[in-house]
Amino acid sequence: MFIAPTGRIGGELTVAGDKSISHRLVLLSLLNRGSIEITGLSDCIDVKSSLAAVKQLGVSVTQEKELTLLQNRGMLARQGHFNIDCGNSGTTARLLTGILAGQPGFYRIFGDESLNRRPMRRIAEPLNMMNANISIASNGCLPLEISGSRSLRAASLSNPTGSAQVKSAIMLAALQAFGETTISEEISGRDHSERLFSRLNLPIMLSSNSIRIKGPAELSGNHRFSVPGDISSAAFFAVAACIIPESRLQIRNVLLNPTRTGFLKVLRRMSARIEEKTISDKWEPCGDISIQSSELCATEIVADEVPYLIDELPVLAVAMAFARGRSRVTGAGELRHKETDRIRDLIGQFKLAGINCRELVDGFEIEGPANISRNACLDSCHDHRLAMSLSIMALASPDGLAIENTDCSAISFPEFFSSLRNCTRQKN
Ligand code: S3P
Repeated sequence: MFIAPTGRIGGELTVAGDKSISHRLVLLSLLNRGSIEITGLSDCIDVKSSLAAVKQLGVSVTQEKELTLLQNRGMLARQGHFNIDCGNSGTTARLLTGILAGQPGFYRIFGDESLNRRPMRRIAEPLNMMNANISIASNGCLPLEISGSRSLRAASLSNPTGSAQVKSAIMLAALQAFGETTISEEISGRDHSERLFSRLNLPIMLSSNSIRIKGPAELSGNHRFSVPGDISSAAFFAVAACIIPESRLQIRNVLLNPTRTGFLKVLRRMSARIEEKTISDKWEPCGDISIQSSELCATEIVADEVPYLIDELPVLAVAMAFARGRSRVTGAGELRHKETDRIRDLIGQFKLAGINCRELVDGFEIEGPANISRNACLDSCHDHRLAMSLSIMALASPDGLAIENTDCSAISFPEFFSSLRNCTRQKN
């Protein structure tokens, strides 16, 4: 697809419900005796993988317009042997494993080519320390097999990669385990599972660097949630409005959880003009963001900040390519274990576009402002976040760019291209 440069970005944008929160609500329905009613669940392909999995395991799923109703009898309605296809979704595969480890039955978890290459030892090992019975392929990846049972035991565990998926998988297993499980972390990444457990009055205790959960705990009742807009989807438009001259954009009703808004801090450090206004803070904070274009300058991102902006690093790299000076990201080795090796593929594509940049073991360096090559033809490498980041780069490039394989944007943001059309304006 050829994406032409746009005059400017303008108007108002709302995005579908946050993907991370949506996955957690859907998957938790497996442990609830009762119903979970959700307004504004994400409609992306990844969350559809979670919905299909819970349906296959016996949860009744009804969807009408904005409403999703998940009804369950509090245990897996059908016990037996299940082959569960998680598609491209690491969150589905990992969180589901934490749940199924404590549910009698035999479960085989697999995914598409990309998911089948992602590391799973990081969940199998801690869960097996809780007396789970999980085996993974010899290369440490999917397919993963779980002989679930009601004999999980609490354990004291760490989360060395800082992965929120690993933390959440352990938390979900801990709810079903006998005793008090402790998870210690140096940096705690996104905290949606903690907020959800607290909101549901589940037995969770939080201190600065640890989470304690006392099991086994019952979850029952009829619960209602409204999911704020996905801040990671909004990030593509925020960067577009920063780097395309004369832009001015309002993003409404979006998640403003500080464990997810690290990219806004970074953009401000780069001299972006961004204002945030929290409108509601009952469960997950949400509100509005307004952005005006400005000249950006280079910045440095180090390990401490990475968990708060891991998914936004590809689009931040685009901002860096348009900023004056040399930007540097380190401590982001986890990017190599995403849907693709996002360091290798991002820098590979940036080089094809003529950008002066280089790969580091755990990050990258980018020299800006770049002269993006005319006639460059880039490829998303079938990674949704690369597809959307490169598309923003195309919009901001003087001659536009051709980008192959952009359909995968629907993995997290099916409305990406229609929103882009709605927010592009002629120059004043
Ligand atoms: C997610 C956690 C992050 C993130 C992913 C969603 C989650 O992954 O990259 O897109 O919902 O918990 P890791 O836990 O592997 O860091």
